[in-house]
Amino acid sequence: MSQLSAQRTTRLSGTIRVPGDKSISHRAIMFGALAEGTTRIRGLLEGEDVLSTAAAMRAMGARIEKQDAEWMVEGVGQKGLSQPEIPLDLGNSGTSARLLMGICAGYPISARFKGDASLSKRPMKRVIDPLTQMGAHFESIDGRLPLTITGSADLRAIHYDMPISSAQVKSAILLAGLRARGITSVREPKPSRDHTERMLAAFGGACTVYPDRIAVDGGQTLSAPAETLHVPGDPSSAAFPVIAALLTENSDVTLTNIGLNPTRTGLYTTLIEMGADIAFLNERKIGGEMVADLRVRGSKLRGVTVPPGRVPSMVDEFPALFVAAACAEGEFFADGLDELRVKESDRLKTMADNLKACGVELEEGANSLRIYGTGKPPKGGATAQTHLDHRIAMSFLVLGLCTPEPVTIDDDHAIATSFPGFVAMMNDLGAKIS
Ligand code: S3P
Repeated sequence: MSQLSAQRTTRLSGTIRVPGDKSISHRAIMFGALAEGTTRIRGLLEGEDVLSTAAAMRAMGARIEKQDAEWMVEGVGQKGLSQPEIPLDLGNSGTSARLLMGICAGYPISARFKGDASLSKRPMKRVIDPLTQMGAHFESIDGRLPLTITGSADLRAIHYDMPISSAQVKSAILLAGLRARGITSVREPKPSRDHTERMLAAFGGACTVYPDRIAVDGGQTLSAPAETLHVPGDPSSAAFPVIAALLTENSDVTLTNIGLNPTRTGLYTTLIEMGADIAFLNERKIGGEMVADLRVRGSKLRGVTVPPGRVPSMVDEFPALFVAAACAEGEFFADGLDELRVKESDRLKTMADNLKACGVELEEGANSLRIYGTGKPPKGGATAQTHLDHRIAMSFLVLGLCTPEPVTIDDDHAIATSFPGFVAMMNDLGAKIS
């Protein structure tokens, strides 16, 4: 654990490639580990979260290793997952924990799940309830990690009306549904990211997306794709250099190969409404996902109101967006943000407390945040408490690049969960973070 400080920077410039998409990387390892045959993956995020998923799948029988630039995953296929002899340590990663519960539910094995202090506080009942209805058994003290799941080779298909929009919950149910008797379906209030649905097709599986539900047939077998899977750059990681470039006046930064799946682009729509100068160049499709290069120039931003229906398509981007709003002119408002309270930290409270300490005027509601922007960056000069949350850590380093006084973060460790090399990449663009 070490502190880092960011100092005012006049200009960022250059071309960067951010690490691979975290959601797609988890799924590439998981699907590859379940499939018959060998899956090859390029551009995989080698962050701690994805490495936790890889370690868990290895403990259940898959072979996963890196050969030169490609990751090779030899799946268990028909043989099925084997009983893990060690607890599955999922570190900081909610996606690993929840999707792996959906996977384990369909096999006659018992697995102990554990995680770090942040993951051990996060609610798991949202996956425990539907998976229990399907026939899996859980032992947990309060619906949190550590817990033990015992799966079943004879799962029941269910229809599940999800009370919240969550790709993690949806994916856990669909993954269990692949092993259940009959057709499993889910309905969510607003569509969440659809990487599971897309990746299923790449592995020879299928699910049907109806206007009111997503359905998957039980008893499907997956097979490794003939072609190498290419993971696009993560639009959620790109948010940090993009907002840093917007907030530092004379900046001109290009980010290549950024994933622009329409279920992930809410931040970019919002930034453009705020007056951001972002050009989408060379738009193309790679491995079933839209990708573009983003050219970003320093911009004068204004406050906006974010429509609540947009929240699922930018659920991870609010910490970075709040930093942009704190430097914009006029009032910014977002609500429908209940889910922010159960991310790696309580992101509404963590952001509100740290922004206030940096001199930002704001009002934190039960599920909303209102920020009174002055058109100038706040004074900074505080130490942000990151609570093991990578996106909080990166957000406050970005803020420190434009405040008159430096901004310090108490702990840089969590950054490596999603964006290894963040500080070096920012400093190569001209940032002063040390
Ligand atoms: C993810 C889904 C989101 C997101 C998380 C990754 C995924 O969580 O916050 O970082 O890969 O499915 P929810 O589905 O719980 O909103």
